[in-house]
Amino acid sequence: MADRTHAQYAQDTLAIHAGYEPDPVTGAVMPPIVLSTTFAQEGPGQHKGFEYGRSGNPTRNALEGCLAALEGAKHGLAYASGCAATVNVLHLLSPGDHVVCGDDVYGGTFRIFDRIMKPFGLQASFVDMSDLGNVKKAFTAKTKLVWMETPSNPMLKIFDIAGVAEIARAHGAPLVVDNTFATPILQHPLDLGAAIVVHSTTKYLNGHSDAVGGAVMTRDDALAERLRYLQNAIGAVPSPFDCYLVLRGLKTLPVRVRQHVASARVVAERLEKHPQVARVIYPGLASHPGHALANRQMKGPGGMISFDLKGDLGQASAFLKALRIFACAESLGGVESLAEHPAIMTHASIPAENRRALGIGDGLIRLSVGLEDVDDLWADLERGFAAARG
Ligand SMILES: Cc1ncc(COP(=O)(O)O)c(C=O)c1O
Repeated sequence: MADRTHAQYAQDTLAIHAGYEPDPVTGAVMPPIVLSTTFAQEGPGQHKGFEYGRSGNPTRNALEGCLAALEGAKHGLAYASGCAATVNVLHLLSPGDHVVCGDDVYGGTFRIFDRIMKPFGLQASFVDMSDLGNVKKAFTAKTKLVWMETPSNPMLKIFDIAGVAEIARAHGAPLVVDNTFATPILQHPLDLGAAIVVHSTTKYLNGHSDAVGGAVMTRDDALAERLRYLQNAIGAVPSPFDCYLVLRGLKTLPVRVRQHVASARVVAERLEKHPQVARVIYPGLASHPGHALANRQMKGPGGMISFDLKGDLGQASAFLKALRIFACAESLGGVESLAEHPAIMTHASIPAENRRALGIGDGLIRLSVGLEDVDDLWADLERGFAAARG
């Protein structure tokens, strides 16, 4: 099923079969991990599609085929990390260009815009895309790209992909959606008008917290050709072994995501009733301002929850230290549950005043709800609340 698309098969089937046919020689149902860095040519320029490990690798091809199929894209490209994928996409631009970006993005993405691309002459405006008027106002004559995360990290804002895509199209600027939090199981930005989808495969796509990786998917042949050039020229490609791990993780992605969503719903509902919780941010709750939009553009609200614990930094810290099942750790989307403090951990690279404006305060805790028994998870959170009470 190397070339099957999501128009032909459901995602549960594509996740297992897309990108790779059983090996014609041995019948192996899993792709070999091809470590070779170079490929013998019959004569100069006469090769079998592979020349050098940075420009192409059979294990990476299998992964890229599966990634493209799951996202409903024509082209998939794999990278050494989500940040590498982001930097590659931004290299589509030139000095002097301007990007309209959602105001709530992963701290590392903000850092790429602010510290890496700005010195090269790329400008970015960060706007709350919950209001499409803000998006329209942010365009300048130099705007060449629009970037968003939805649900965003860590405030889980839901932005209207189709609405922003229409504005972007009217200005001739492609829309990039970082789909890491939603996964292609819950959201298909390309169907809603996005030109490019970006992922940190480190998260749900791999799902087992044992490989750092990134991906870019598109239906646009010209963008894909340029991205393929940049992937090779910049060189931040994943190792064949990591490609294998992510491909293996993808096979269970639909099943895992269904359980992440089911458990996160239970945890979010219980948190909302808890007396030590000031606010729960979860798109599956009716209290979330983006709830109706999430119901429209997503197939489920995801496995991430942010909440404000009543009290100060000391109490948030006591809460996190007391947990025994949730690991106090950065990252998300693995089988194991994680809890973290965005202001100190994942979003420390966002300036304090921006964090305050976004609502990333001392009491904000972000949960990645894993696949453990949900009652065990809840008992663990109760342990945290007891420690925060002192
Ligand atoms: C939404 C989002 N995008 C991109 C990244 C960057 O990915 P990586 O850590 O694989 O470089 C992250 C990392 O946490 C993320 O949460």
